[in-house]
Amino acid sequence: MRILMLGGGGREHALCWKIKQSPLCTDLIAAPGNAGIADLAHLAPELDIEDGEAVRRFCIAEKVDFVVIGPEAPLAAGVADILREEGIAVFGPSAQAAQLESSKTFTKEICDACGAPTASWARFDSLDAAKVFLMTSPVPVVVKADGLAAGKGVVVAQTTQEALEAVEHMFAGSLGQAGHSVVIEEFMPGEEASYFVLTDGVHVLPLASAQDHKRAFDGDEGPNTGGMGAYSPAPILSAEIEDQVLEQIIKPVIREMKARGIDYTGVLYAGLMIENGKARLVEFNARFGDPECQILMMRLQSDLVPALLACSIADEGYALKDMTLDWIDAPAITVVVASNGYPGSYEKGEIIHGVEEASAHGAVVFHAGTRTDGTVLLSNGGRVLNVCASGTDINAARQTAYSAVGQIDWPGGFYRRDIGWRALK
Ligand code: AMP
Ligand code: GLY
Repeated sequence: MRILMLGGGGREHALCWKIKQSPLCTDLIAAPGNAGIADLAHLAPELDIEDGEAVRRFCIAEKVDFVVIGPEAPLAAGVADILREEGIAVFGPSAQAAQLESSKTFTKEICDACGAPTASWARFDSLDAAKVFLMTSPVPVVVKADGLAAGKGVVVAQTTQEALEAVEHMFAGSLGQAGHSVVIEEFMPGEEASYFVLTDGVHVLPLASAQDHKRAFDGDEGPNTGGMGAYSPAPILSAEIEDQVLEQIIKPVIREMKARGIDYTGVLYAGLMIENGKARLVEFNARFGDPECQILMMRLQSDLVPALLACSIADEGYALKDMTLDWIDAPAITVVVASNGYPGSYEKGEIIHGVEEASAHGAVVFHAGTRTDGTVLLSNGGRVLNVCASGTDINAARQTAYSAVGQIDWPGGFYRRDIGWRALK
């Protein structure tokens, strides 16, 4: 089977690594890919992965049998829809279904309709109405741009003043279209964790839990990022809470979508807030987490490809309802090495040494923003490497990962030194 992976981050490197191990995969192509993915797949760096027509033409020309979509942008752009219309098997939801990630209002309405627990909320299309509402809202309060804003659309305001400034910025166009309507939400206290499932639109196959570290610096300080490190499983997500998440959040939402004529297929990522042994939904994503995917792939023992196919094609050979997956119980951790300055501006094209040495120290290194000039490895993005390790417990996994990170020789990079602190606690 010829498989095309769309994306070029650490998540896509981990997916390629796992897909390449499958006997079902005869050829792997990745667009745009990165220097690490280049060791596993042919790269198609010129293909615009958000242009569905271009991807469709590429798949026909290259005789691609199956497309796996990594990031959210091609999903929101409807790439999966165009491929499906052409009869090409594709892993990833339709643009309509991906609204669970791309529209906060859509998700909130679905949750309310099926009773899935989440923060109470209100939506505003005018600045004045939002301001009036905030004047009587308790603080902290959460202000969110309704659309996709690359992680920059959420302000957890500690004071009314801060909340008012946030809505003013959003309505003044600081986030473009995404801020033309805002959602104001009740603040939920608690501890965050993520939970991932695969679905064919009817059946649900649980994957695993993880915890991410969103802030740039140690001690959860500094600006929000795409994620500076993660581990799986998340100790806070007990079997009991996992069951509650499946029965009260994930399954009702997928059923509600189906009842509205929307088949949600692919991976569903639930961002959760856990307080007093109960989970509430913070947000959904329509894709794997990055870097959470990297550690899920480290822990997954079964072949990934049949599970991806089971979400994507109605073929009895790959039925999700009959499928189980084997996982390594041992925890896995990943430490992200990023360019100095990330998530703000940063240099590109710096030489990186030590990746092979890191691997020799027992880690699996997935690349994110990297490229090569044919001889040396160069930085090419904000998040650059994911140094992953598993161990008998989180402490052992952490020690291996950090000893491997110590082998990376790149003065222009930085990483957090406290990944896993919650799990150790
Ligand atoms: P989101 O993009 O919706 O995941 O929000 C980004 C981050 O903001 C989340 O990971 C939480 O840390 C925080 N957050 C969002 N909504 C809430 C809420 N209602 N209560 C508390 N924290 C929240
Ligand atoms: N690591 C958080 C995300 O992928 O959204």
